[in-house]
Amino acid sequence: MGQLHVIDHPMIQHKLTIMRDKETGSKDFRELLQEIALLMGYEITRDLPLEDKEIETPICKMTAKVVAGRKLAVVPILRAGLGMVDGIRTLVPVAKVGHIGLYRNEQTHKPVVYYCKLPEDIQKRLVIITDPMLATGGSACDAIAMLKERGCHNIRLMCLVGAPEGIAKVQAEHPDVDIYVAAVDKCLNSDAYIVPGLGDAGDRIFGTK
Ligand code: PRP
Ligand code: URA
Repeated sequence: MGQLHVIDHPMIQHKLTIMRDKETGSKDFRELLQEIALLMGYEITRDLPLEDKEIETPICKMTAKVVAGRKLAVVPILRAGLGMVDGIRTLVPVAKVGHIGLYRNEQTHKPVVYYCKLPEDIQKRLVIITDPMLATGGSACDAIAMLKERGCHNIRLMCLVGAPEGIAKVQAEHPDVDIYVAAVDKCLNSDAYIVPGLGDAGDRIFGTK
């Protein structure tokens, strides 16, 4: 089964609490999401392999460490996943970015695909899927399946808030994918929104409601 990593550093919990507050406006919400994505990115890249490099400091020659060849791709699930991309790219500026467009049908709560554009060599990369909300898990499972169809075999899922239902679905359908979240919430409501959650992440990022 894919491992669940709850990245609950005090600074992340503090920032997430501000994001959850319904009085927090779009500008602060966006900035906090980027900050948390950067902090989570630090943990998600913790096990990247290193290799030696010969360099010369102003004082002497030395053998120093650099991240080894393993390349990264960030794949946000549109729209809300876009809000986490810049945070990760601050940490890994050379990461390529693919896009998967999915929205949930409001009646069925099932995801509908409307866009997919990925780096040509995506199958050679460590792929980090970003989406702040893991609710039923339908969108994440479909995005992972789309990446696997294109040959990706090294995929991690990075969300801000996960519902137990969504976490269980991803673990059941994609046991090879590790999940990283800042918080695991209580449940879903009858509209398949996360409780207590933070509302509609896409609307809060882009100010559409
Ligand atoms: C939200 C969210 C996830 C999805 C999670 O997107 O950003 O992609 O719902 O729900 P699930 O786990 O039940 O699939 P939404 O469909 O609202 O689209 P948007 O980002 O364009 O607002
Ligand atoms: N999508 C959101 O943006 N929020 C939820 O709580 C569930 C799905």
